[in-house]
Amino acid sequence: MPHCLQRCRKCSLVLSNEQRFKNFFSRFDVRIHVASLKQFEERIMTTYKELGLVNSKELFQKAVKGGYAIPAFNFNNLEQLQAIIGACVETKSPVILQVSSGARKYANSTLLKHLAKGAVDYAKELGCAIPIVLHLDHGDTFELCKSCIESGFSSVMIDGSHHPYDKNVELTKQVVEYAHKYDVTVEGELGVLAGIEDEVSSAVTHYTKPEEVEDFVKKTGVDSLAISIGTSHGANKFKPEQCTRSADGVLLPPPLRFDILEEVEKRIPGFPIVLHGASSVPAELVKIINANGGKLKDAVGIPEDQLRKAAKSAVCKVNIDSDGRLAMTAAIRKTLVDNPAEFDPRKYLGPARDQLKALYMHKVVNVLGSNNRA
Ligand code: 13P
Repeated sequence: MPHCLQRCRKCSLVLSNEQRFKNFFSRFDVRIHVASLKQFEERIMTTYKELGLVNSKELFQKAVKGGYAIPAFNFNNLEQLQAIIGACVETKSPVILQVSSGARKYANSTLLKHLAKGAVDYAKELGCAIPIVLHLDHGDTFELCKSCIESGFSSVMIDGSHHPYDKNVELTKQVVEYAHKYDVTVEGELGVLAGIEDEVSSAVTHYTKPEEVEDFVKKTGVDSLAISIGTSHGANKFKPEQCTRSADGVLLPPPLRFDILEEVEKRIPGFPIVLHGASSVPAELVKIINANGGKLKDAVGIPEDQLRKAAKSAVCKVNIDSDGRLAMTAAIRKTLVDNPAEFDPRKYLGPARDQLKALYMHKVVNVLGSNNRA
C-alpha cells in the first residue's frame, strides 16, 4: 500500500490522509463508519447548493437564447471578489467566479470555499441575489476536478486539450460521469490557445477543428465547450510580427476566426461555447503602468468589438483575467508613486478595487451584454 494511504480501522476502505483527517474531524466529532466509499465521500463533501451557488446549465441556456455572454472573472483574493460582486450586483448580471489551480494553491481551498459562500451572502446584502457559479479554470486531472467538486465548486473545466484526441475524450468523459452525479456542470476544450496563464502555457495556437466537435460532445457528455479561434492567454497575446500597426504606432492584432465559430455553431446548434483568453489589454492601463515604473512591452489583446460580436453568438461564457490584473496593477503603481510615504495596504488596495469594479462594470454592460439578466 502506498505510504499516503491508510485503512479505516472499522472497515476495509482505503482512505487518503485528507479523507482520514476530514473523517476524524467530522461535524459529529467521531469517526464515521460507512458502507461504501461513495457514502463516505457524500458525508465529507460540501455541496455547492449548501453554499448557495448555482451550476451553469440554466445560465448558459438563457445566454445562448438571449445573445449575451456570462462573465467568468478569475479571483484569488478579497479585493477582487468585492469588485466582482459589487460590479455584478450593480449591473444585475449573473457571474462565474473562476479559480485556477494556481489560485487555489495561493488562496487555500478552505478559505476559497468560505469566500464563495460569503460572496453569495454579500450579494444579498447589497440588494440583489445574483446567480453565482464557482468554477474551476483549467483543471488538468480527474483528481483536481473531484477535489473541487467535494469542496463546493458548482462547475469544473477539464482541460484535456494538450492530450491526443482520444485521451482528451477519455479524461473528459471520466470527469463528466463523476460531476453529473452531483449536478455539477463540466466544460471541456478542443483546440489549444497560445499564451501563458498560471500553470497553463503554449507557444502556438492550434485552432479547433470543427469536424471534431459533434463527436467530442456526444462521446463525453460535456455541458459546454471551450474552442480556439485566435484568442490567447496573458497580456502579450500576439507577437508584433503577427500584428499590423495603426498610423500612431498602436499594434493591431489579427482578427478572430469567426469562420471557425460559425462552422462549430452549425454542427452543434445552440450548444454553449466558451472563449478563453478574452482580455482586451486596454492601452490606457498599460500606459499608466509604464508611466509609473512598469515595463510592459508590446502588450496587446482582443479588440472589444470582436468580443461583443462573439457574445451575441453561441459564445455564452467569456474568460477575463489579465485585464483585471492590469487594472489593479495600474492603480497600485500610480497610488504608490503619487504617495510615496503611504504604507497602509488599504490605501492602495482600495483604489485598485475601485478601478477593478469599474472595469468589470464596463465589461458586463458594453462587451458581454449580461446586465439586467440576473
Ligand atoms: P486572459 O489572459 O485573456 O484574461 O484570459 C483568461 C482566461 O482565459 C482564463 O482561463
